[in-house]
Amino acid sequence: MKFFVDTANIDDIRDLAATGLLDGVTTNPSLVMKSGKDFIPLIEEICGVVNGPVSAEVAATDYDTMIQEGKKLAKIAKNIAVKVPLTEAGLRVCKELTDEGTMVNVTLCFSAAQAILAAKAGATFISPFVGRVDDIAMDGMNLIEDIVTIYDNYPQFETEVLVASVRHPMHIIESARMGAHVVTCPPDVIRKLYKHPLTDSGLAAFVEDWKKTGQSIL
Ligand code: G3P
Repeated sequence: MKFFVDTANIDDIRDLAATGLLDGVTTNPSLVMKSGKDFIPLIEEICGVVNGPVSAEVAATDYDTMIQEGKKLAKIAKNIAVKVPLTEAGLRVCKELTDEGTMVNVTLCFSAAQAILAAKAGATFISPFVGRVDDIAMDGMNLIEDIVTIYDNYPQFETEVLVASVRHPMHIIESARMGAHVVTCPPDVIRKLYKHPLTDSGLAAFVEDWKKTGQSIL
């Protein structure tokens, strides 16, 4: 399972990249707004830190502007995945860019029907939003299960299921159980994965007992 971080905060990206466990980055206009930075130089900086796919989202919603923005974003670096919304125009842009060899992440997916269309449009990644489905009292993980099952039925679909809008570790564990290819998580959710109270108490006991031996390894 690949781990992407869902942030435009360069300090968090650098910190998580240093673990060696980070496979990519996803950004969106809201995250860019939160960073307070200029979009293009920010994406250039992120692409210099992470070798894996870096999702940069188009801002327009009409085909003509979106395709121009997508082509401009794709030129920033080889590891750019142009992010487009799951609309008719967005999928048209997706098809055109993937045919040219550019990675495309189709975002704002809330149904299996939409995910089928994205796969047919050649998307590199489909981003179903689990947390936002949970927010309206529906089961976001059912959506992931449906999409993974449907894609598995058609080996010619090469689109990877990128679970987005992740809110807590259980979303990640369930995604792994279902065989989703990628999860994109806020930095704090990735950091929570390390945590277990028995690890903390066990380590504290080992440190204390080691001190009592009076020995040193180095
Ligand atoms: O980047 C898309 C997605 O992960 C957004 O998550 O928490 O705003 O629903 P959220």
